[in-house]
Amino acid sequence: MPILENLTCPIDGEYLQRQAGSLTCSRGHTFDLAKTGYVNLLPVQNKRSKDPGDSKDMVSSRQNFLNLEHYLPIIDAIMTGWPKAAWQPQMRILDAGCGEGYYLHHLGQAFEKAAIPVERVGLDISKWAVTAASKRDKTVSWIVGSNASLPVPDQRFDVILCLFGFPVFHEFQRTLVDSGYLLLVESGPQHLIELREILYDSIHPYKATYSEGVTGFELESEYSKQFTFSLMSQQQIQYLLSMTPHIHKASYQGKQQIKQLDKISVTADIKLRWYRKTNERSK
Ligand SMILES: C[S@@+](CC[C@H](N)C(=O)[O-])C[C@H]1O[C@@H](n2cnc3c(N)ncnc32)[C@H](O)[C@@H]1O
Repeated sequence: MPILENLTCPIDGEYLQRQAGSLTCSRGHTFDLAKTGYVNLLPVQNKRSKDPGDSKDMVSSRQNFLNLEHYLPIIDAIMTGWPKAAWQPQMRILDAGCGEGYYLHHLGQAFEKAAIPVERVGLDISKWAVTAASKRDKTVSWIVGSNASLPVPDQRFDVILCLFGFPVFHEFQRTLVDSGYLLLVESGPQHLIELREILYDSIHPYKATYSEGVTGFELESEYSKQFTFSLMSQQQIQYLLSMTPHIHKASYQGKQQIKQLDKISVTADIKLRWYRKTNERSK
């Protein structure tokens, strides 16, 4: 599959053409490809901070944790629920908030095994995440950009994945084909409960997201995946902790208690929801 095709200029929305080591629009805005092959389509004026998204340290912790392969069951859960209506050759998939590319890489392998050629685009606002992703897999179009303003034309994708990310529904609706699919993956009530019980004095009751529905999308299927995995050293425990919001939210005492552990068995509780685009205007 060709990469970095069918993208638009983040400044004026014109189509981008590939010219050697850069992408250029008809009005002359040029975006150089990085050495590792990704393109940064997040202009300074669209940035809310100097270094938006996950930091270099968070990306590296996530990568170290994911490389332990404890989250492979999530790939299986995604593939199991993949809607048959979307299961077609040349399927165009966007991972919106792709992090360091773990899921898109493994999904690519799963589709290859099933002999289904797919086009994969991974976008994240963190240049650290996209740099890591572009080193992991050279067969994906990796883009630094924001879900708030996707640098692609309307109806560009058949499926959009938003895994533990920050959905922007009106952009997802704009860039999906009619009746295209959106997958939201989030943590469920028991996710990492063993760590949370150590980190916090009391556990907040679970609050479901989007229980009132999502305008512009119809819920097609919803299911959970639960499994346990073991972290066998303090370092592995820190990799996991550092890629979660708990690293910022938990108290000093809670984090000190975690530092005393040299192993722990942890529950993963993942909620998957497949939505189908409707004609109702998204907010
Ligand atoms: C919790 S991480 C999940 C990463 C990846 N999906 C995974 O599960 O490994 C959330 C990701 O969203 C990215 N992010 C935050 N705001 C974003 C935005 N507006 N547009 C695109 N990505 C964003 C962060 O940089 C981070 O990589």
